[in-house]
Amino acid sequence: MILCHCAVVDHRAIDAAVAEGACSLREVLVRTRAGRDCGGCLPAVRQQTESALRLAGTRHPAPSSEVVHAAG
Ligand code: FES
Repeated sequence: MILCHCAVVDHRAIDAAVAEGACSLREVLVRTRAGRDCGGCLPAVRQQTESALRLAGTRHPAPSSEVVHAAG
């Protein structure tokens, strides 16, 4: 399922970014290029990142304030 329509990033790309070592929402955004345009996908990308990180047993994503900075 496409989560970021601007960058055409699907849920599998988010999972792959975490599997490849991304351990924060910011890192997922950098690796996938999601969230760089309208930002409308950020809640969905955050949710998918949280899910992937839980499954991977790593820390939680960055606070929302960091997300806004990463997306800007
Ligand atoms: S839908 Fe992701 S930046 Fe627009």
